[in-house]
Amino acid sequence: MTNKVRKAVFPAAGLGTRFLPATKASPKEMLPLVDKPLIQYSVEEAVSSGIESILIITGRDKSAIENHFDISFELEQLLQEKGKSEMFDQVRAISDIAKISYTRQKQALGLGHAIYQAKDFVGNEPFAALLADDVVDAERPALRQMMDVFEKYQAPVIATMQVEGEAISRFGVIDADEVEPGVFRIKDMVEKPAFADAPSDLAIIGRYIFTPDIFQAIEQTTPGAGGEIQITDAMRLLLKERPFYAVKLEGARHDAGDKLGFLIATVEYALKRDDLGGEFREYLRSLNLDD
Ligand code: G1P
Repeated sequence: MTNKVRKAVFPAAGLGTRFLPATKASPKEMLPLVDKPLIQYSVEEAVSSGIESILIITGRDKSAIENHFDISFELEQLLQEKGKSEMFDQVRAISDIAKISYTRQKQALGLGHAIYQAKDFVGNEPFAALLADDVVDAERPALRQMMDVFEKYQAPVIATMQVEGEAISRFGVIDADEVEPGVFRIKDMVEKPAFADAPSDLAIIGRYIFTPDIFQAIEQTTPGAGGEIQITDAMRLLLKERPFYAVKLEGARHDAGDKLGFLIATVEYALKRDDLGGEFREYLRSLNLDD
């Protein structure tokens, strides 16, 4: 087995019910943060972390994702004719970003089931899985931070962050010992526990590095929280056989698949933009927010 993480899987078949009605006919992965769809942020994160090959797991009504990463012949021709070379380069770069393949998850049976669709693509290699609605704004790409831990410990790695109070129930939660600053060895994990049952305040974020034995574990996993085949339950099974690590990411994580999280991420990313930040900041300052 090669020890280099070269492949990444993007589960993108979910129905996006947290963002209706916008997601009724459009994939949530295509919601734009300022001017770029969510999934492009995490594809760029993967590529800048060293990923060479990507599998996006789609479902019905997700063709906009494939179109986005494809060549847009008419648009490119038009931009060329009009001499808009900067826009042309920007549009063309998206289709050159990485080697991307697609497969369809025919039924939405859970995140574990979605990741299982990548079995043939992955073969006998470690691989990453990224959930596009978790956007991580970090100086060192989040997945790169995790790869460093994978390379050091030669074991699967998930991303974690501290979540205060009852909100922890919306996540997978780990029970873990810190083995070096920001790196934990996981003892147990549970998917979306009640607040009183959460083993810690360390939530799982949508970034994973798996070894191929996760697929056998998924095969043995029965439906859990929400009646779905949960990746957290599959990892829990595997935890009996091999060490698993978690890394507290440096950077800010936004849940852009949630309406409030999306609004916050939009404001944060817009403020950072050279072309928009100044005027946007002025506008925000002008708001009378004390009413
Ligand atoms: C998924 C995982 C959960 C994790 C979360 C992070 O849940 O099942 O363990 O904490 O992503 O965003 P979802 O948000 O898809 O329900």
